[in-house]
Amino acid sequence: MVMQSRIQRELGPNLPMPRSLFSLRPISHLELVAIKDRIDRTYLKHDRLSDNAKEVAELLGTFRLDEKTVVADIGCGTGYLELAMLDRGSPFAYLFAVDVDSIALEVLTYAVAKHPSRARTRIQTVVSDDRDSWLPENGVDQVLFVSTHFFSATQDSAGSWKVQPPMRRYLESIKRALRPGGQVHVFEFTNEPCDNRPALTEPFTQIGLRFTGAQVRLPAGNRVCQLTFDR
Ligand SMILES: C[S@@+](CC[C@H](N)C(=O)[O-])C[C@H]1O[C@@H](n2cnc3c(N)ncnc32)[C@H](O)[C@@H]1O
Repeated sequence: MVMQSRIQRELGPNLPMPRSLFSLRPISHLELVAIKDRIDRTYLKHDRLSDNAKEVAELLGTFRLDEKTVVADIGCGTGYLELAMLDRGSPFAYLFAVDVDSIALEVLTYAVAKHPSRARTRIQTVVSDDRDSWLPENGVDQVLFVSTHFFSATQDSAGSWKVQPPMRRYLESIKRALRPGGQVHVFEFTNEPCDNRPALTEPFTQIGLRFTGAQVRLPAGNRVCQLTFDR
């Protein structure tokens, strides 16, 4: 509850209006009320000492990243990864924080805007929809899905793995966004074996990305599967 009251204090009535990085418009009073409500309900999301935030921070360093890398964090939620990258001074040229949940993105925007790192200005939120990530074509080097499986394939009675057509379109928009040499990484915190995950690999291999292996990471003692796909 300490975190909740700190955030409530920070979101007090005298604060300047945060701006959305996506639209560069001031957030309305009603939206701010919604953001406060969301933070009140999910306040631990911004407690950078929480276990989840630590786990996400441990993922940094498991994919190629330098000053020229353009990153897309699909299903970024309220921004664990973005805050971890700013905290650690991870190099990146530009980062697209993508989610369908615009309120989560407003929370992310608010938290990122308060971060002291100047790199915060190179983080751009993108409101995607169910069929399109709205990432720029040929504009991204590393695409990350952290604990985000909305694209999962399901098996039919004949044993074939099926990806819903809207999801396939969504993933194809990600493939179009990948630059030559680009990669997709799916991170899953799980105790299940990593080497046989057709529900997570089929959606990408069916659109022509090359599965290059599953790895297990042990950040903070937790098992993480990292499924990597090359363009
Ligand atoms: C379990 S949360 C993970 C959030 C964050 N990556 C983390 O590790 O804390 C899954 C996120 O995926 C988002 N999501 C669901 N469908 C999506 C879609 N079609 N495009 C982008 N994001 C989506 C949800 O809104 C949610 O924020």
